[in-house]
Formats: sequence, structure tokens, C-alpha cells
Amino acid sequence: HWRMSRSPKWNLPAMSTLLINQPKYAWLKELGLSEDNDGVYNGNWGGKGEVITSYCPANNEPIARVRQATMAEYEETVQKSRDAWKVWADIPAPKRGEIVRQIGDALRKKIKVLGSLVSLEMGKIYVEGVGEVQEYVDVCDYAVGLSRMIGGPVLPSERPGHALIEMWNPVGLVGIITAFNFPVAVYGWNNAIALICGNVCLWKGAPTTPLTSVAVTKIVAEVLEQNNLPGAICSMTCGGADIGTAMSKDERVDLVSFTGSTQVGKMVAMMVQERFGRNLLELGGNNAIIVFEDADLNLVVPSAVFASVGTAGQRCTTTRRLMLHGSIHDVVVERVAKAYKQVRIGDPWDPSTMYGPLHTKQAVDQYLAAIEQAKQQGGTVVCGGKVMERPGNYVEPTIITGLAHDAPIVHTETFVPILYVLKFQTEEEAFAWNNEVKQGLSSSIFTKDMGRVFRWLGPKGSDCGIVNVNIPTSGAEIGGAFGGEKHTGGGRESGSDSWKQYMRRSTCTINYSKDLPLAQGIKFE
Ligand code: UN1
Repeated sequence: HWRMSRSPKWNLPAMSTLLINQPKYAWLKELGLSEDNDGVYNGNWGGKGEVITSYCPANNEPIARVRQATMAEYEETVQKSRDAWKVWADIPAPKRGEIVRQIGDALRKKIKVLGSLVSLEMGKIYVEGVGEVQEYVDVCDYAVGLSRMIGGPVLPSERPGHALIEMWNPVGLVGIITAFNFPVAVYGWNNAIALICGNVCLWKGAPTTPLTSVAVTKIVAEVLEQNNLPGAICSMTCGGADIGTAMSKDERVDLVSFTGSTQVGKMVAMMVQERFGRNLLELGGNNAIIVFEDADLNLVVPSAVFASVGTAGQRCTTTRRLMLHGSIHDVVVERVAKAYKQVRIGDPWDPSTMYGPLHTKQAVDQYLAAIEQAKQQGGTVVCGGKVMERPGNYVEPTIITGLAHDAPIVHTETFVPILYVLKFQTEEEAFAWNNEVKQGLSSSIFTKDMGRVFRWLGPKGSDCGIVNVNIPTSGAEIGGAFGGEKHTGGGRESGSDSWKQYMRRSTCTINYSKDLPLAQGIKFE
């Protein structure tokens, strides 16, 4: 296998070799992209920092280049964002909702071409690329409605002539750090909700999906500019750990919303906590599907395949552990393995492809290392297990049986398509295994037993943020609050009352009488 360095210093590809210059990829220009792209937006476009090349995971060829932000540009952008907040916070929430509605419409117009870029740059299949733009569109619609609904209660005061009310105000500037695996949707969830709440946003996308960050920002910027609003309401500074660290330590960034690994999330959390800032963390998962003896196997098999093979195992909601009751273990393994062999592997942008490459070469190495460890810990590879002989970062989707429920590799989130199959006997055991990992994102059971369903949803059931019945662990809708417990970080984004994470609450007591009664009946005279 040949390797291509991702460092631009000794590997600046000649212009003619960039995919963007090939007629086949001319559609990239519909997104306003060119060979060299500005990686900073704050009302003006810029980028005086390191030049990075974005590579296509399906062939490791360079697509185009992006100029990242310098620290001086970061500084300037934060200042402009805070100035923009003064304008944005004064706009009534339903009017802010109207701007978000326009952003949703602008995304609708570009949904196919933006989905294609996600597919080309991240490596996920075309329908999943379009699907995550759809999530952004959907959360915009949701946010438009919310812009006329958010607010606090009027509570009964114990004092005559007093009103006790809750006010919700925007936190200010929301820093959004997103991961490579959902380079559009995760920004979208944060952006749409933060905006209607009255916040401005500063986005740092993953350094390996910079073209997607630039293309999305161009769409959003056009809406702001057409409405004569400051572009810095939705700023972007492309960069690496330097920008992420600056955002985490910066007291002017009122909320840091971070999606990524538990390891980096912990560093972000500590830096933000150190200054008593706010964070919203969406970190790792180690999600299980539990299949009981009474399950409808016609639902189980496609669910397990979608949730473990989909996005080549690179969702935080991917099923990594498949727990099967002893009585159906062998038949389910056989059927899932048979379905794995029918998964169509190919170029991610080909509409018939179901399975594309891993995002990076490093992920291929992690895949091989995990398989080696699983074997050493007693696992048997029943399907897959090898790197594929073709250009790009392709590996075979893999099923491993025979491991102990608490084998170290089973408790590790490796962000690749490896499914560990575990055999259990009792409900108590299965629920305990579900909860014994550090992560707490998503979980599913397959059963027809109503008592078991409610035990699963209750205090001794799943300890995850997402608790499903008869559906896969991945593919959550935007209408619910998305996020998880324990090492997953505790944040909630997108639907339900997640908007509260982007606002600060004031408890307000107003005396409209001529007396001054004190609470708790205290007399101070
Ligand atoms: C992620 O992997 O970071 O539930 C998010 C899902 C998607 C979002 C996944 N809606 O699988």
C-alpha cells in the first residue's frame, strides 16, 4: 500500500492534478469552490495561515486546497462576531427564525451538490451525504417554529403583588467544533438552534473536511449578506488544534460545542471548565443492539447491518456490540454475515454503493490493530478482517464472535466497521453489559415483550441518552434531543428542549405592590 502524506509542506500537488480541475468534478464550482479557497469568514473572506490540501478517501487524490486561519485572524474574527452579536441579539426571535428559514431554503437548493461534496471529501455514500444536509434543512424548519415558542414560565410567587418569571437570554458567542464524520449536520444542529436563540456562531470544522466547511459557510453567508446582516453572525475559522485550543480557552466564547473523540473532548472540557465557561459535548459511543429470543429477526438483520456497516462504521451511533440471546445466536450471526456479503462496495458517490472507504489512512491502521487485538483476546473473525486491494482507504466490514463481554477491545470505541457479537442468557445480564462500558450514547433492544420494553426504558434499563426499541442505534431524528451520558459528555443537541443549552436563564422577581414582604415570612424591622 502506498501512502500519501497529508502534510502540505512537502506534498503540494500541482494544480493540474487536483480533482477540482477535472471535468468529472466540475460541479464543485457550483459550490463556489476553486483550487485555492479562503478558510476564514467573518463578513470578509480570508486565510493567511497554513495551506492544507483536502484528499478524497476513495482514491487519496487531492481535491483542492484551503488556507486556514492564523491566530491574528482568529482574534479579528472573534471581535467581529461579538460586534455582530450586538445587532443580532436585538432582532426579535421570530425574525431571526425567518433568516434561519432562508438558510434552510438555500440548503434545499444545493442539497444534491453539497451531498456530493460530503461524499467526495468525507467518503460516506451519496445518500448519506444528502441525508446529513437534510438533517440541517430539517433542524432549520424545527428552529423556525421554535423561534415563536421558546420562553420560560410565569411561576406562582408566595408574596402578594409580586410576579415570579423566568427569562431566557442568548449566551452570546457559540464556538462550534465539529468532527469529520458529520461535516454538515452537526454544524447545522448547533447553528440553527443557536441562531434563533439570539447567539452568533464561530465554526471550526474538522481539518480533513475543510471544503465542506467552506461550501456550507458560503451558502449561509449569502443569506446573511442578502438580508444586510453582518456576515460575522456565522463566522468560520478553519484550523487545527491551535484554533480549537484558542476557542476553548477564550472567555469571549460563551459556549463551546464540541463533537469528537472522548480523549480530545476531555481536554476541551477541562480548558472550558478552568474558566467556568459552558460546554456541550458529543463524544464517543459504544452502542449495543440486544436481541432477545422473541425478537422479529426480519427487523434485526437489516437493523444490525445498517447500524454497523452504514457510514463504514464511522458514526458515533454505530452499533459496535451485537448481543444475542443464546437461543438465536448462531442463526442471527449467519443471517447478518450473509447480509454483509451482499453489501455493495464502491465509489461513495455512485448511487448504488452502500459502503465506501474509511476517512483516513490512520483509520485503516486502527482497523487492523483492533482486529489483531480482538484475535489475541479470543475473538474469531467470521466475516471480513482485511484491507481491500483497491485505491483509497477501503477495509472489509467485519464481524467478530467469541469475545468476552468485558474484553478490553469490546470496551474500546474504534471508529471503524468492526462488530463484536456477544452471547447472553438473561435480560439482567444483557442490560448490565449494555451499561458496563464507559460510553453512554445509543442503545437498542429487539423484543415483543412489553414488560421488558418498559424495564429497558426505566431506572434499571439502558443508561444511554438514546434508548431504542426495535430500531437500530443510529439514524436518530432531529426532533429529539441528541446526546449521551458518562464519557459521551452529557450534552444534548438538536430537538426537544436542547435550545436551553444555548441560553442562560434568569429568575426574575418583580414587585408591583407598595409593600415589601420578604420571602419565607421573614420580618426585618
Ligand atoms: C454522529 O455520528 O456524530 O443518529 C451523529 C445518527 C445521526 C447523527 C450521528 N442522526 O446516526
